[in-house]
Amino acid sequence: MVHTGRHFLQIPGPTNVPDRVLRAMAQPVIDHRGPEFAHLTAEVLDKIRPVFQTSGPVIIYPSSGTGACEAAFVNTLSPGDRVLIFETGWFSHIAWRRVAEKLGLAVEYVPGTWRRGVSPAEVEARLEEDAEHTIKAVAVVHNETSTGVTSRVGEIRRAMNRVRHPALLIVDTISSLGSIDYRHDEWEVDVTVGCSQKGLMLPPGLGLTAISDKALAASRTAKLPRSYFDWQEMLKANQSGFFPYTPATNLLYGLREALQMLHEEGLTNVFRRHSRHAEATRAAVRAWGLEIFCEEPLEYSSSLTAVRTPDGHDADRVRQIILDTFDMSLGTGLGKLAGKVFRIGHLGAFNDLMLAGTLSGVEMGLRLAGVPHREGGVMAALNHLALADRSVAAN
Ligand SMILES: Cc1ncc(COP(=O)(O)O)c(C=O)c1O
Repeated sequence: MVHTGRHFLQIPGPTNVPDRVLRAMAQPVIDHRGPEFAHLTAEVLDKIRPVFQTSGPVIIYPSSGTGACEAAFVNTLSPGDRVLIFETGWFSHIAWRRVAEKLGLAVEYVPGTWRRGVSPAEVEARLEEDAEHTIKAVAVVHNETSTGVTSRVGEIRRAMNRVRHPALLIVDTISSLGSIDYRHDEWEVDVTVGCSQKGLMLPPGLGLTAISDKALAASRTAKLPRSYFDWQEMLKANQSGFFPYTPATNLLYGLREALQMLHEEGLTNVFRRHSRHAEATRAAVRAWGLEIFCEEPLEYSSSLTAVRTPDGHDADRVRQIILDTFDMSLGTGLGKLAGKVFRIGHLGAFNDLMLAGTLSGVEMGLRLAGVPHREGGVMAALNHLALADRSVAAN
C-alpha cells in the first residue's frame, strides 16, 4: 500500500522531531575543539539545567539513555555494593537491574506487578531494615515506558529521609524529562538520567545526567572501573567548553533549538499540555470500554498510555493493522506484556489535532481488527480537549 502524507510516529519515543529542530541540525559540522563549539557547549549545559530543575552540573554523553544509566552506577558505586531496585516494568529490569548485575553490583530486585509505581512505604520499610546502611543506592524509573505508570519520586525521597538512610537516590527520567514535572534538586535526587529522543524532541543519540554534590563526592571514592563514562573527565573538559572525545555536534545544535522551544512554551505549560493530552487519551480508552493498564490514578503517566486489549485479541495484530492501513506506529507490549497491550505515545512535539488523528487511527484500527469496543472514544477525547482548561502560565 502506498502511504501519503506524514507518518504518525506515536510510539513513546523516539518522538516526532519538530521542523525547527531538524533545520537547526542541518548545518555544516564544526571543529569540536574550536571557539564556536565551546560557546555551544556552554550554552546547552546552562540551558539544560532548568529542564532537570537543578542548579548543579549536567553531563551530555554521545550515547543512548542506557549509557547514562551505566555511567550512574560506575561513577558512584564499588564492586559488590548493594543496590535496591524496584520492579516497575521492562525498563526497571533492562535499564537498572541488568546493567547493575552485569557490573557486579549486588542487586535486590523488589518484585512488582507492573501496574503500579514504586511504593514509598516499601522503600521506607526496606531501608529501615538496613540498620547497618549496607544499601548504597536506590534506583527507580520515574516513568515506566513499558506500562504508562509514573512513580512518585518526591514521596520516595521523603520515605528515605524519614528513616535517615544515606543511600544514593538514582532515577531514570528517560521518558519523563521535559514532559512530566520532575525536580532533581527539590527531591534531593543524586543522579538523574535522561535522553534526547523523548520529551526533548530530538533524534536518539544523547544520554543526559544531572548530578548532586553527594553523588559527585561518591564518584571520588567509587571503585567500579570506568573510562568512557568517567564523570570527572567529562566535567573537567566541559569547564572549557569541550568534551574528552568527539561529541555529537549536530545533535547539540538540535538540543539548543529544542531547549529554546521548551523555554518559549514554559515548562509549566509543557507539563500541563502533556497531562491534558494524557487525560483526553484516557477519556477515549474509557469510552471504548478498554482497560488502562496503570491501576493507580495518582500514577497515570502523562507521556504515554498503555491500553490492554481484551483476552484473545492480540495487541500486536491491532498495531500491525493500524500501521498497514493508516501508517501510524504505536508502541508494542514489552516483555511479559507482548501481545497484551499497545502503547500510545503522547509526548514531545505534539498538539490537540495530532492527538485527535492518533486516537482516530486507534479507533478505526480496533474496528478493523474486530476488537470488541464501544464507539465514541475519539468524541470523548475531543470533548475533553474542547472543555479542559487551556490557560497558559506566564513564562
Ligand atoms: C524508561 C526507560 N529507561 C531506559 C530506556 C533505554 O534507553 P535507550 O534506549 O535510550 O538506551 C528507555 C528506552 O525507551 C526507557 O523508556
